[in-house]
Amino acid sequence: MAFPVQRMRRLRATPTLRRMVRETSVTVDDLIAPLFVQNGEGLREPILSMPGQFRFSIDQARIEARELYELGIPAVILFGIPNSKDASGVGAYDADGPVPQAIRALKSALPEMCVIADVCACEYTSHGHCGILHGEQVDNDQTLELLQRAAICYAQAGADIVAPSDMMDGRVAAIRQSLDASKYFDVPILSYAAKFAGAFYGPFRDAAGSTPSFGDRRSYQMDAANRREAMREMALDVEEGADILMVKPALFCLDILREARDRFDLPLCAYNVSSEYSMIKAAGQLGWIDEARLIDETLLSIKRAGADLIITYHAKEWAQRNQ
Ligand code: PBG
Repeated sequence: MAFPVQRMRRLRATPTLRRMVRETSVTVDDLIAPLFVQNGEGLREPILSMPGQFRFSIDQARIEARELYELGIPAVILFGIPNSKDASGVGAYDADGPVPQAIRALKSALPEMCVIADVCACEYTSHGHCGILHGEQVDNDQTLELLQRAAICYAQAGADIVAPSDMMDGRVAAIRQSLDASKYFDVPILSYAAKFAGAFYGPFRDAAGSTPSFGDRRSYQMDAANRREAMREMALDVEEGADILMVKPALFCLDILREARDRFDLPLCAYNVSSEYSMIKAAGQLGWIDEARLIDETLLSIKRAGADLIITYHAKEWAQRNQ
């Protein structure tokens, strides 16, 4: 039955009708807020390339997490800024490092909040790569040991979920095996399964001081041209025991998210990354866009593409606006 019997505009006529037939919505339950944590007291250092984001000392992270939780945001993901770095990234599994300290502080103040620990070496290595180097190459299997130690360290501190973001082969299986061997059967793995290499993470690397000192991450993060390979990465992580799959970045990968949603039944997470955030913030500061609406539409498009969960730096202000 063609026009004029089918009039698509009938169901768009009023706000109520539009609300009734709306297929996708974003709720605060979908959001995970990233937090950068460092040692010290009373620190809330603004991150210049990410307006509205801070490097928090542990006490301030606890205050921030409480505000987030009171706004209804169920989860945070922690990134550590250590005092010192070395070639082998031992800080990644230092029980007194900023991440384990923050996990303990947050879990004791807010036992019901879900605290996710990002597991990677790049914040802890002096060269900024996501693993242990052999010459100029990241050694996959040696790095697995570091990741296992880090995951155990965060689980011991009380992390609810560990999230490996390094892109080494076999890391999900390796981490699952060591978690289980230490009786952390119930700690889920949120795997950065399809993580693409590119310019998308620039502001984050400013924030974490994790820009590689030479070369780039293209020998471990994925080539942005490859959709089928992303599906293979995700299938492998499912086999290895991942509990939640992530696609990163989000906006540049809506096609990947959609395909992953159609193929896999695991919960799917998207990382609305630092550059996606900073571009909106910059244009907003210049008065060139309607920032609030752009944020709403950004998150909606990520949900519509198929994500169940969204890690986003916009979480707090979105929740404040949509109380
Ligand atoms: C650590 C990690 C990175 C991000 C999340 N975990 C940096 C990177 O891979 O270089 C980026 C997040 C963002 O850009 O917001 N490996």
